Order: sequence, then C-alpha cells, then structure tokens
Amino acid sequence: MDQNRAETAAAGTPRMGMSIGATLLLTTAVTLLIYLIKSWKKKEPRNLPPGPRPVPLLGNIFQVNLTELHKDLVKLSEKYGPVYMFQVVNLKTLIVVGYDTVKEALVDCGDAFNDRGIIEIFSVLFGDHGIVMSNGERWKAMRRFSLMTMRNLGMGKRNVEMRIQEEAQFLRERFMQIQDTSFNPTYILGLAVSNVICSVVFGERYDYEDKNFLKLLSYNREIFKRLNTFAGQLLGMFPRLMTCLPGPHQKILSNNVKLKKFVKEMIKEHKDTFDESCPRDLIDFFLLKIQEEKNNSETEFREENLVGTVIDLFFAGTESTTMTLRYSLLILLKHPEVQEKLQEEIDRVVGQNRFPSADDRAQMPYTDAVIHEIQRFADIFPIGLTRAAQEDTTLHGYHIPKGMMMVPMLTSVLKDTNHFKNPDEFDPGHFLDENGGFKKSEAFMVFSAGKRMCMGMSLARMEIFLFITTLLQKFTLKPTVDKELIDIRPVPNTNGSQPYDYEMFAVPR
Ligand code: HEM
Repeated sequence: MDQNRAETAAAGTPRMGMSIGATLLLTTAVTLLIYLIKSWKKKEPRNLPPGPRPVPLLGNIFQVNLTELHKDLVKLSEKYGPVYMFQVVNLKTLIVVGYDTVKEALVDCGDAFNDRGIIEIFSVLFGDHGIVMSNGERWKAMRRFSLMTMRNLGMGKRNVEMRIQEEAQFLRERFMQIQDTSFNPTYILGLAVSNVICSVVFGERYDYEDKNFLKLLSYNREIFKRLNTFAGQLLGMFPRLMTCLPGPHQKILSNNVKLKKFVKEMIKEHKDTFDESCPRDLIDFFLLKIQEEKNNSETEFREENLVGTVIDLFFAGTESTTMTLRYSLLILLKHPEVQEKLQEEIDRVVGQNRFPSADDRAQMPYTDAVIHEIQRFADIFPIGLTRAAQEDTTLHGYHIPKGMMMVPMLTSVLKDTNHFKNPDEFDPGHFLDENGGFKKSEAFMVFSAGKRMCMGMSLARMEIFLFITTLLQKFTLKPTVDKELIDIRPVPNTNGSQPYDYEMFAVPR
C-alpha cells in the first residue's frame, strides 16, 4: 500500500476504521488458529499405538489395580493388542506384552530402547547417578567400568566362585546350629547373599552378627518392602508432592538417607586407607579411575557416580537374589519329590565329600531345569524395569517418538503359552527334553534381554545354584505344616511377586 492510500484509509470514518480493525483482528486470529492447528498436527506423531482413553491429570491409573499392576496391564493387552499406550498421571508409557513383541523391543530394535528415561521416584531417591537409572554416555561408562571391574575381581571365574562357596559354607553352618528348631530362612539367606555383594564392592564379608552389616541390610530391605505398598505406589506416582506429606512412605525416604550416609562413610574409609598400587575392591578401582581422570572435565568418574554405582549394585543384587532363594526353598517344601530328585543328582555328580562347583551344573540337567523353573514361576520382576526410546523408532508397525517410556512386561514372556505349556503351574518339565536333558527356552527372560539386561546375571545364577546345591547336599528341608497347605502363589496385592512368609526345618541327611 502506498503512503497516500494508507493515509486516506486511516482518515476514514470511525465506523469504517472499526471494521478494518475487526477484519485485521479476525484475520490475525484465523491465521494464528491455522498455524496452531498445523503445528499441533505436526507435533502429534501419527501412527501411535492405541490405548485406553486417559482422564485429565490422572491418566489411566483408575483403570488398574495399583497393587497388582502387572496383572491388569497384561489384561488390557487383550483389548488393545501387544503394544499399547498407558498414561500414568501425565506420562505416556508404552506397554509391551508377549514374547515376540518384548523381544522385538529389547533385542531386534538394537539400541533403540537402551535409555532408562527419567523415573521421578528414582530421581528423588537416587538421582540419575550410577548404572541402573543413568542414560547415554554416563550409563555406558558406569556399566562398562563395573562389568570390567567385577571381571577383574574374578566374577565368572574361580575367585568369585570361591567366595560364594565360602559363604554357602557359613550358611550351612548356620542351618546346622538351628537344626532342631523351625525357622524363617529369609533373614539368613539375605545375610549370605548380601555378603557376596559386599565382598565384591567393599572387599570384605561381614560376620552375621556385625551391627553395621545388619543396619545396612535393614535400610535396604525397608526401602524394597515399602516401595511395594500402596503408600510406596503413591510415592512412585507423585514423588515431589508425597515427599512433603507425612505418612508411612516417609520411612522409605529416611532409610534412603541412611543408606547413602552408610555408603559415603564406607567410601571415606576406603580413601583413608587407599593404596593405588593395590586396589582391593570396586570402590578402590573407582577411586583409581577418579585419580586418573582428574584433569578431564567431562569425566563421569566422580564421587556421585561412585555412590550411585555402589548403591545400585547393592540394591539390585541383594533383594532379587534373596527373594529367589526364599521362593526356591518354599517350592521345595511344597514339592518333596522334586527335592528328592535334586538330592539324587547332587549325590551322583558331586557326592558328599566336596563342595558343589559351578562346573557341576553342566552334568546336572535336572537341577538346572528346576532352578530355571523356580525363577520362571517366581517371576519376581513382573513388569521389568522401564526403558525409554533413545531415538524415534518403529515397534510392531507403530511410530514410537524419542523419549517415550516403555515397560517390557517380563511376566507375559515368562507366562507366554506359546513357550510354556502350563504357564501358571510349577513344572520343571518346561526346561527338560524328552531324554531328561536340559532344554533352553528363548522366553526365559527373568533377567530381561538385550544390551541392557541384568548386569549381575552370571553372579546371581552362580549364587542360586551353589547355595541350593550346598544346602541340599547336607540337609532335607521339611515344612512345619502339611504340604497341601503350602501356598506357592505370590502374596496377593504385591507388585513384586513375593512369596508368603514361612517357617521350615533343615534336617541333616
Ligand atoms: C535373581 C536375581 C536377579 C534378577 C532376577 C535380576 C533381574 C534384573 C532385571 C529384570 C533387570 C532390568 C534389566 C532391564 O533394564 O531390562 C536388572 C538390572 C540390573 N541388575 Fe539384576 N537381577 C538379579 C540379580 C542381580 C545381581 C546379583 C546384581 C549385582 C551385580 C544385579 C545388578 C543389576 C544391575 C546393575 C542392573 C541395571 C543394568 C543396567 O541398567 O544397565 N542384578 N536385573
């Protein structure tokens, strides 16, 4: 518009001025609306998986029972398919169900789901330091370092095997001391399992009466136990709000503070006695790495990551293995015929005059099958650990945008009817071929799968094998009630598939 015409227009009647203004306003509003619709359409990715309709602010949490989440999440897949979206509060999460799709996500998609994402409750409790909750370069550096150090310290080789054998011996002695009385084995099993991790991380095992050791275990156990309650679930969903409110969940937070304090004191003791020419354990190797990289401003070898890694190994390695052993003994009490066959195999392959060793496993297909079946049946991490998409990717034909959280439903793999004929029964036949040999199953995803699967798998498998065989070599486990009354199903209203508490006798053979 030239200057004159513009001036004429501006000098027109007020009525005319208003209509031009209104037109301009309207045009601007319509343009803005079109722009917003276009950009909204552009941002909302197409071809996302289906899922139940969320309600504002809360998402889909009222469509499931929070204390048995895994069952309802599997059930929802009957309606929405093996890959669907579920919204927790305001966080859209991908739920992946069944062997084929979980394998596609964790293995076939390569690194696509290697991130852990940000889980608020764990950020509040542990931050994103260490291995379990870290992402990207930090995760790679911490995982690589820990695996290498554990290997240097002998994990997977004779050294760690000897430590486990030694601990199994202490466990056996403890069983022997209480042979005439019935007892709940949870506590003693926890001591033995924790001691194996302690000797890797802290370089020493503790006496079963050591006060410091018992304190450390109680912090750990309290956190694990209480996270699994309703108050724990609420803390998980609204961590920032709940940390400010009173209630039983406060015990989780206070125990977490104590756990961190304990680890920091341990690190300080290591620093005071550190000799770089002779690193004793994982903490010393980390301190050495901090020293080596002190001039690298980008390094991940900093004290927060040391604290995080130690807590991760302790937390991840203790409760999981203890829970599995607790479940194992309960199942053997319920099935004395299985226990008898295990003892026959132990007597034939190992005899009574030496300790079972990791190498014996290859000659013990029945024992191997029973342990696999115990782990499959116990299903202790039914919803696995969340992952997140590292990049835009495609899963089961759907578009998955970078950053979206993903839950691999391990329970649906371990109970997949295409792989296990009696998924809800305890049946060692799931891992035996027709000649009684051990039969592998691709669907044995107790430790998850792919590049971010459990880091302690070989340690855990060795512990479970050696503890069970060392105990059964010398004891027969007897229940305190009729075996028909023993319930081996998980306690209802728990998310972590816990066995019922029980007492038993360990009768010397
Ligand atoms: C029966 C015993 C155990 C079971 C069933 C188990 C299971 C699992 C599962 C399902 C995950 C999640 C993997 C994923 O992201 O998909 C995991 C992660 C992990 N586990 Fe275990 N675990 C056991 C014992 C151990 C032990 C003894 C250690 C100690 C060395 C350990 C250390 C870890 C660590 C550090 C991670 C995180 C790995 C990462 O984020 O890269 N676990 N475990």
